[in-house]
Amino acid sequence: MRRIVVRAGNPLQGEVAVSGAKNSVLKCMAATLLAPGRHVITNVAAIDDVTVMGDVLSAMGVGVDRSGLAAESTLVIDVPEVCTPEAPYELAEKIRASIVVLGPLLARFGYAKVPLPGGDDFGSRPIDMHIKGFEALGATVNIRHGDLEARADRLVGGRIALDYPSVGATENLLMASVLAKGTTVIDNVAREPEIGDLIDLLTAMGAQIAGKDTSTLTIEGVDTLHPTEHAVIPDRIEAATYAVAVGLAEGDVTIKGARLEHMDMLAEKLAEMGVHISAVDNGVWVTSEGRPRSADVSTLPYPGIATDYKPFLLTLLTVSDGVAIVTENVYGANRYAYVAELSRMGADIRTEGHHAVVRGVPRLSGAPIKAHDIRAGAALVLAGLAADGTTLVGDAHHVERGYADLVASLKSLGADVEWEEPAGDGR
Ligand code: EPU
Repeated sequence: MRRIVVRAGNPLQGEVAVSGAKNSVLKCMAATLLAPGRHVITNVAAIDDVTVMGDVLSAMGVGVDRSGLAAESTLVIDVPEVCTPEAPYELAEKIRASIVVLGPLLARFGYAKVPLPGGDDFGSRPIDMHIKGFEALGATVNIRHGDLEARADRLVGGRIALDYPSVGATENLLMASVLAKGTTVIDNVAREPEIGDLIDLLTAMGAQIAGKDTSTLTIEGVDTLHPTEHAVIPDRIEAATYAVAVGLAEGDVTIKGARLEHMDMLAEKLAEMGVHISAVDNGVWVTSEGRPRSADVSTLPYPGIATDYKPFLLTLLTVSDGVAIVTENVYGANRYAYVAELSRMGADIRTEGHHAVVRGVPRLSGAPIKAHDIRAGAALVLAGLAADGTTLVGDAHHVERGYADLVASLKSLGADVEWEEPAGDGR
């Protein structure tokens, strides 16, 4: 299996562009199921998860044209009048986001069958809020043979209060309710920018949604929607990756396309640590000089510091001056799997439940390590920028699920990083 080889080098310099947000495009692709016809999605990242989601749609009879993806970042999706409203296990199990086809399929065809998501490196991730929400809209939901089956002749508007602002539940229920009969009110929704993006797409398709960027969405169901063209928002998590890379390697980098307003709290936290981010024309400018300073980090739903930023921030803390407490409030303790890999590089991290105590050391020490998921894998690549010797990141295919080419992007900023095909077992 391919691995990524990293050596510390000069401070990073120059410009790098971010792709369209992974966590937005996957939902936009699911949303196309709501209307027959030709949909065009632009600013799409050429990443593995987009390929898998495309395969999920294709298996339902949807035409997915990826020929413009590499060169123009464009995806053309032809949704027929009749689809097979079922997601096959072999594809759906590869990406958890496939659960969000359930809402649109149920709304349009009155029936949907989607495999229940299994566990992953984030630990068990229940979908009880999705199920309760569909039931509140009049659906009957059953779990049989590992699949979640939902039925409703026509969904009817209802009142839903989420126990927690779940990103996936908000998206799934939003997509179900746009074609429901009557009014739906969803309270305590997630407010991530990717949800705002989905609302913009649905609105352009003819949906009636009020409350964007607030905790309550009010949806007036319509009878039909129509296809449209939509540009995906930039990936704030990819932007954070480069910002933290600058913190680890020092330097002066412009991240083209990144929107500071989507990463305010992160920018404040990074400033506390000595990494400065400011808005420039069509992007952000990041500078960092010298050793970063430790600062406590606590993850929260948006607008708080995203749990997906945590692997980067924790990596930065491993070489920061001082001691910091990192608290995970979104996932279970398992999301610290990559900590063992950082420890192999000489990081001083103690974990206890949802907390990690990080005592900064001046430098890490390059070692063979393994990626466990997209963002943690990318964070380990970044760790190599602040390590003596060579860092070899195995199982790097995880990184390709979410980055078009992280290696090429970092290289363009002057980092000493390469892909390598190992002869051995990937470690
Ligand atoms: N949860 C429940 N019940 C539910 C739904 C969620 O208990 O019915 C819990 C989850 O177990 C978790 C928490 O609520 O502890 C948050 O889950 P959420 O539903 O908000 O997350 P998600 O929709 O499954 C998306 C992103 C994740 C990101 C989280 C949190 C996508 C495809 N994934 O997941 O991103 O970490 O929101 O912001 O949008 C990634 O990019 O690699 C990634 C994992």
